[in-house]
Amino acid sequence: MLKIKDDQIKKISKEFKEAKPYPFVVINDFLDPVFAKNLSDKFSGELKKIDEKYIKSFDSGYGGDRKKQFSPNGCSQQTQNQVGFFNQQPFLDFLEKVTGIYGLIGDASYEGGGFHQTGRGGRLGVHVDFRVHKRLNLKRELNVIIYLNDKDWDENWGGGLEIWSREGNSMVHKVIPKFNTCIIFRTDDRSFHGHPDPLGCPDNKIRKSLALYYYTGTELVYAENSRKTTVYIDGTETSFEFKNRLKYGMINFCLDYLPPVLTRKIIGRK
Ligand SMILES: [Fe+2]
Repeated sequence: MLKIKDDQIKKISKEFKEAKPYPFVVINDFLDPVFAKNLSDKFSGELKKIDEKYIKSFDSGYGGDRKKQFSPNGCSQQTQNQVGFFNQQPFLDFLEKVTGIYGLIGDASYEGGGFHQTGRGGRLGVHVDFRVHKRLNLKRELNVIIYLNDKDWDENWGGGLEIWSREGNSMVHKVIPKFNTCIIFRTDDRSFHGHPDPLGCPDNKIRKSLALYYYTGTELVYAENSRKTTVYIDGTETSFEFKNRLKYGMINFCLDYLPPVLTRKIIGRK
């Protein structure tokens, strides 16, 4: 579903890592165009009929005026499968190659993410994102936003995503939200972004995007859990499982007694 070829990923990754004021990269023609159009059409299709409990509306304040978020979990099975693509391992592998962040985790609950739409007059104040997924106890690392505006979206209507300085006092870059453009950016305590000026689009147009957030776990789980692997009752295991027990016994020993830098070298974790 991605149109990115393997040899392009290196270039994208370099751009991401070298971007200022914080890591980000903008990719045009990101998805297969038929897939992107299909996602875009959902705003005038099934999202109009979605159950209220899957919609968050923001009339004013932080979330911006006239903004709505639709959880993919309230959509048809087909749409859930389509958006689920972005939580599956091949897409996570792509993000890891681009960003160098190891062990990324998608969010099947789409906390704060999903299909976003903003109408005329709507805006999103410059902000930094929440850092912790409270239900899953995970650390937020990355945002992926795919713009799904109609192809005749006029950049004079506004709605460009503004990337602001680390001090939060000036705009450094603006991303025009053209159809099938994607921005991948790092989220931390000072990754300021938003589209603070009211949208000037016609009443019959909306700014449309799919927002996906990615997380990492913490190695503290190793400290909190003495048992790190599957444990079999003696005598019931196969020889394969026995060999695994020896292997994981060694890994556990390393994790418990060796410095992390040495452990990572031995067991091959990045
Ligand atoms: Fe945000």
